[in-house]
Amino acid sequence: MTCRHCSEIMHANGDIISISSVSPLPSSTPHHTKDCSRVALLYRCLSAPLLHSLRYDSSPHDRALGGNLLAGPRKLLRPVQYLGAVPCRAFSKRFVPTTMEAAGSPQLLLCVTLALTLAASLLFFLIGGRRRSNGRLPPGPPALLFLAKFLALGRSIFDLGPLLVDLHARHGPVISIRLFRTLVFVADRKAAHKALVQGGATFADRPPPLDPGRMLTAGGRDISSSSYGPYWRLVRRNLAAEALSPARVALFGPARKLACDGLVRSLLREQGDEGTAVMVRPLLRRAMFELLVYMCFGARLGQPELDEVESLQQEALRSVTTFPVFAFFPAVTKRLFRRRWATYLAVRRRQDELFVPLIHATKLREDDPPCYADSLLAVRVADEGGRALTDAEMVSLCSEFLNGGTDTTVTLLEWIVAELVNHPDVQSKLHDEVTKSSNPDLNDVQAMPPYLKAVVMEGLRLHPPGHFVLPHGVQSDGAEIGGYAVPRGSEVNFLVAEIGRDDAVWTAAREFRPERFMEGGEGHGVDVTGSREIKMMPFGAGRRVCPGYSLGMHHAEYFVARMVRELEFRRVGKEMVDMAEVLDFTTVMKHPLRARVVART
Ligand code: HEM
Repeated sequence: MTCRHCSEIMHANGDIISISSVSPLPSSTPHHTKDCSRVALLYRCLSAPLLHSLRYDSSPHDRALGGNLLAGPRKLLRPVQYLGAVPCRAFSKRFVPTTMEAAGSPQLLLCVTLALTLAASLLFFLIGGRRRSNGRLPPGPPALLFLAKFLALGRSIFDLGPLLVDLHARHGPVISIRLFRTLVFVADRKAAHKALVQGGATFADRPPPLDPGRMLTAGGRDISSSSYGPYWRLVRRNLAAEALSPARVALFGPARKLACDGLVRSLLREQGDEGTAVMVRPLLRRAMFELLVYMCFGARLGQPELDEVESLQQEALRSVTTFPVFAFFPAVTKRLFRRRWATYLAVRRRQDELFVPLIHATKLREDDPPCYADSLLAVRVADEGGRALTDAEMVSLCSEFLNGGTDTTVTLLEWIVAELVNHPDVQSKLHDEVTKSSNPDLNDVQAMPPYLKAVVMEGLRLHPPGHFVLPHGVQSDGAEIGGYAVPRGSEVNFLVAEIGRDDAVWTAAREFRPERFMEGGEGHGVDVTGSREIKMMPFGAGRRVCPGYSLGMHHAEYFVARMVRELEFRRVGKEMVDMAEVLDFTTVMKHPLRARVVART
C-alpha cells in the first residue's frame, strides 16, 4: 500500500498489515520526538476507511498514543496534537482486521480468562509480588485465598468493603495482600493521619493506571491518575485556582439557581396529581450534570447532547468498577473481551468528538463566567518547553471534572434525602431553619445555616460517596504505616466508611444524628479535610485530598436547602426507606430512593 505523503510506508500481507519503514515528520511539527513522529506519520498515512476497518493491537507503549490512534478520521488532520508528551519508543505496530478477532462462547472465554488471571496472579505473587523490604510487612491473608474470594465476588477491588472489614477484624488495622502489587489497606484513623498528612509526599503518588483507565485518561494525564510531580501540581493548581476558588464558584450562583429551579419543577412534574412516588436519583443527576457541564464548557447543551454526554461519562466510570480484566495479559484479554474493549475505545473516541469542539468554542463567548475549559486552554506546561495542553489531555481533564463533581455529589444528596424521609423531625427542623435563614439566596458559602451544614456533614460521615479513596502509590523506600514497612510500588488505600463509622469516636455511629455536628456535639468543629486530625475522611486527606471538596459541600448544602424549603419528601408507604448499599463507582442506595414529593405552600 502506498502512502500519499511519502513513498512505500505500508505493505499488506494477507490479513495482517504491518508498517515497514517510515520517514521523520517535518521539524516544524510541534513537540514531536524522533520516535513518536514516526507514529504520527503512520497515523497520518492511514486512510480513514482503513482506520475504521482495523483494530489497534495494543503494545506496552500505547500510553504514548493515549488510545487516539483509532480516534477517527477527523483527527487525521492533526495527528501530533494527540500524541501527548510521552515519548514513544517502539514504532512497529500490528493492525488486525476486526474480522480476525477471536470468537467463542462467553463461558469459555470467562473460564480461560479466570484461569489466566489465576495463573498470572500466582506468578506475580511468587515472582513480582515479593518486593524486598527493610521491615515487617503488614499482616494479611495468603494471596491465593484472597484471590479466590475476590474472584468469587467478581467485582472491582473497590467492592471489597465487607471482605476487608472481616480481614481487619482478624489481622488488625493495617493489612497487606500481595497480589500483582502489594496492596495495603488502612482502617485506623490515626495511622491514616500519620501516613497521609504527617507523611507529606510519601503516599502522595498514584499507581500507574491500567487499561481501560489508562486509555480513557490519555495515559494518566488527568489530575486523579497522574503521578505526584510537576504535571500533577500544575493541573491541580489550575483546577483549584481557576475553577473552584470561592470567587469563581460565586460567579456560578445564577447557574446553580437555574439548575435547582429545574430540579424542583421536575420533581413536582414527576409527582403528578396522583401523588405517585418519584424516583429521585435521575432527576438529581440531570440537574447536577447540567450544572457541571456548564461550569466545565460554559455551554448549555440540548437534551439529546446532554443524554449522550451523560451516558458516555457513566460508561467511562463503569470501567473503574468492573472487574479489571485488561490488567492481566492485556494483549490476550483485549482480544477475548474485544467487545468490551471496543466499547471503551468508542467511548473515548466519542468523548473526543464531542468535547474538543466544546473546549475550543469557549473562546468565542464573552458574557458567561470563565469556565474550566477556558482555564485549560491557558495552561502552559513549563517543564515541557512551555507547551499548551494537548486536546487529549484537556478531554481527560474535562471528563474528570464532570465525573468528579457529579456522581459524588448526587450520591450524597440521594442519601441525605433518604435520611430526611426516614427522619421527618430532622426534615421539619431543617425546613424551619432554611426558611428563616438570613442568607435567603443561599449563595454565601460562609453564611450557610448551621443545622443545614450539620445535616450535610452527617450525610458525609455516615454515607461517604466513596468507601475508599483513590489508590495511593508509594514512590520511595522506607515508607511505613502503623509500624509496618510499605515497600516502594505498593498500592495503599483507606477504609473511609469504616473510619467515619468508628464507635470509638462517634456515639451510635450507625445512626443519622445531625445534632452531633452542632455546638456541644462530638462532631462540632470537625475538620472535614482531616488536616488537624482525622475523625472522618469523605474527601481523603493530605496532598491528594479532593480539590473539589468545598464545591461539593456547597452544592450539597444548596441543593438540600432549596429542596427542603420548597418541597416535603414523604415515605411512599408505611415502610422506612431501605438504606442498603451497593457499589456503582460511588456507593449508592441499593434500592434507589422513591419518595412522595409535596409542594410546600
Ligand atoms: C461530595 C462531593 C465529593 C466527594 C465526596 C469527593 C471525594 C473525593 C475523594 C475521596 C477523592 C480521593 C482522595 C484521595 O485519593 O485521597 C477525591 C479526589 C478528587 N476529586 Fe473529589 N469529591 C467530591 C467532589 C468533587 C468535585 C466537585 C470535584 C471537581 C469538580 C472533584 C474533583 C476531584 C479530583 C480532581 C480528585 C483527584 C485529586 C488528586 O488526585 O490530586 N471532587 N474526591
